[in-house]
Amino acid sequence: MTDLSTRISNIIAPVITTDSQVEIVEGDGSWVTDVHGKRYLDFATGIAVTNLGHRPPTVEAAAREQLSRLWHVGGSFLFESRANAAEKIIAAAPDSIEQMFFMNSGAEAVEGAIKLAKKTSGRQGVIVFRGGFHGRTMGSVSYTTSKAKYRRGYHPLLPSVFVTPFPHPYGWGMSQEDANEYALNELRLKFKHEVMPDEIAAFLFEPLQGEGGYYPASREFMQAIRDLADEYGILMIADEVQTGFGRTGDFFTSQVYGVDPDILVMGKAIANGLPLSGVGASREIFSGWEPGSHGTTFGGNPVSCAASAAVVDMLHEVIPGIAERSDLAFTRFGDLQERHRTIGDVRGLGLMIGIELVKNGREPDSEAFAQIARTAEDLGMFILGCGPDYNVIRFVPPLNVSLDDLEMGIDIIDRALTAYES
Ligand SMILES: Cc1ncc(COP(=O)(O)O)c(C=O)c1O
Repeated sequence: MTDLSTRISNIIAPVITTDSQVEIVEGDGSWVTDVHGKRYLDFATGIAVTNLGHRPPTVEAAAREQLSRLWHVGGSFLFESRANAAEKIIAAAPDSIEQMFFMNSGAEAVEGAIKLAKKTSGRQGVIVFRGGFHGRTMGSVSYTTSKAKYRRGYHPLLPSVFVTPFPHPYGWGMSQEDANEYALNELRLKFKHEVMPDEIAAFLFEPLQGEGGYYPASREFMQAIRDLADEYGILMIADEVQTGFGRTGDFFTSQVYGVDPDILVMGKAIANGLPLSGVGASREIFSGWEPGSHGTTFGGNPVSCAASAAVVDMLHEVIPGIAERSDLAFTRFGDLQERHRTIGDVRGLGLMIGIELVKNGREPDSEAFAQIARTAEDLGMFILGCGPDYNVIRFVPPLNVSLDDLEMGIDIIDRALTAYES
């Protein structure tokens, strides 16, 4: 234990676990430096937050400029950076998004989206998809089913939340088509046996499940949910907290699939690391939220909004380069899959890639991830895991990572796999 880790374990609640002993003092682009001057490739990106790397110059300049003029006045006063951020995000988002409400964290934005859906529809039920992660607050944890552990000790959770399967083709040993059909059939049975569709305010889903193991929904499944939503007047809420802001190759994954949600939840990379989140929807939907029926003190603070506007500007330049990086990564991981028996599946979109580690066929190998992450750190790279068994490498490099750094990161995973298998 270092001095710092001793101090932290004494005074920071143990509910947040520290996996690494590295004391990080600086970040620059795709790299961070520790207190001893050792550099690490940061492919954890603060859980898919620093999508543009550390301290991207134009974002830093925008935040500094705002910091030198105004930090906080609250949402009931006028300041320009909030309008700038909202205008730029709306212009980049699916056509269904016409207005924004800003908050501070992903969980808060999920709660806001559900409150909006309930208020505007007058209905109270919510359908969520098994394996989804939507946050840790009492409301959002009631919608989170990526791990039972996140819910243990907090019951009773919110009522009238109905959980239905999300297609997990690899986990179920099925084709994507069969997995979609199975999941849709379960949803139809839910409407037959458990709740009438006209009591459901919203479908809440991630277009590519994150914490749950990096499972893309597929365009066909998204479209089927859209069709059911239209048929029954249910609002479709896309939680794009992790999948948004370029991560899967376009501004939002809804655009990658070409399926517009009614309500779009944003967070994480929205300001590349400064605290900000938001909900977007049409003017008509927001008109159901009468003034005063929701609110926030810090939400949409001037500095985070200035950073966010600069993030969107920069993403316009970065997004066209994602396809090349994504193709390279998928080709390299495909090659690794042929050479390493521990890799069971490689899946994802853009630069949101899950590499599932298994043993004895399809059995999740959690120890493999733990050991590979440790070796990778020794070799100079941070990676995170995901999935209910924490056996999936969550590969989320910065979207503007250089091709050399990207290759270097995959080489490190290759070496770590070799060390684990030998
Ligand atoms: C899809 C999704 N929704 C919501 C959240 C919650 O965000 P936060 O941790 O900022 O509250 C997360 C966080 O990982 C997430 O991945």
